[in-house]
Amino acid sequence: MESLAALTERALNEVVATDDLAQLDEVRVRWLGKKGLLTEQLKALGNLPAAERPAAGQLINVAKARVQEVLDQRLASLQAALLERQLAQGRVDVTLGGRGEQAGGLHPVTRARLRIERLFADIGFTVAQGPEIEDDFHNFTALNVPADHPARAMHDTFYVDPAHAGQGALLRTHTSPVQIRALRAGKPPLAVIAPGRVYRVDSDATHTPMFHQVEGLLVDTDVSFAQLKSVLHGFMEAFFERDLAMRLRPSYFPFTEPSAEVDISCVECGGKGCRLCKQTGWIEVLGCGMVHPQVLASCDVDPERYTGYAFGMGIDRLAMLRYGVNDLRLFFENDLRFLRQFRGG
Ligand code: DAH
Repeated sequence: MESLAALTERALNEVVATDDLAQLDEVRVRWLGKKGLLTEQLKALGNLPAAERPAAGQLINVAKARVQEVLDQRLASLQAALLERQLAQGRVDVTLGGRGEQAGGLHPVTRARLRIERLFADIGFTVAQGPEIEDDFHNFTALNVPADHPARAMHDTFYVDPAHAGQGALLRTHTSPVQIRALRAGKPPLAVIAPGRVYRVDSDATHTPMFHQVEGLLVDTDVSFAQLKSVLHGFMEAFFERDLAMRLRPSYFPFTEPSAEVDISCVECGGKGCRLCKQTGWIEVLGCGMVHPQVLASCDVDPERYTGYAFGMGIDRLAMLRYGVNDLRLFFENDLRFLRQFRGG
């Protein structure tokens, strides 16, 4: 009978001689499978005198482990080679033009953002931007939210490891820090909107950890709350392309005083009451207010001379309302059947 050493040798030779995954699997089954040649050796132990079985069994197990080890190595190298070949074959020329029906379209959230930008550009606002990795000063302190302020608890903040991004680094929880950047970079009069990604530790049917907001800020002499209200009403009617009722409810934001939350008449039922507006006839769309003097002061703008208004709204939510999308998560799943419905324009 062939010795264990010779069997092992033969198995190892077969393993290293394979050149694809199918062959390797055949070899594995032939030697280590339930009826494999090495496995059979274990079964044959019963023919040995009881005293010799443990030692012999151990030798067979060592041999099996050795074959398994070489087999695993071969598997890893065959898989790596296969991946290399697939990558080489699958090279895509990204400079080629799209083909007819295959042409892409803009994501609905992008479409909503561009629409918002265009409508505000029409009335003299410029687009401003700020970093998504912010610092504590811009995201909170300069917005009148000092370290011990309870309003910090309103935002479930993602903090960034200071070793990578510096002390106090965080993912911005709103676009409001761009107010601070715009005010510090330019002198009033100033009218900017700042769209972008924001982040909060939140995830369910109506919240995603990353979402989009657009911030608005106008600072000048003699800015009034009435102007804010009329600009927002005009914007909402233009965005939804219909007449809408709008109402303001008193609210609280640390960076505005007074502050309000804005509702529009339900875009689904027109105010009669439906599931979308939870039978209230109203849909909440944004927060706004007059810029807090403290915020102006923290940007070296004289609050005695200047006043301003600010507002912030969720782009994803506006996109859902405009396009009749009922689950926020659809925007982030990238299911082509969903996205294709927004193709063109
Ligand atoms: N930053 C607020 C939020 O994330 C939204 C907001 C409210 C922005 C009022 C404003 C404002 O500019 O005036 O919930």
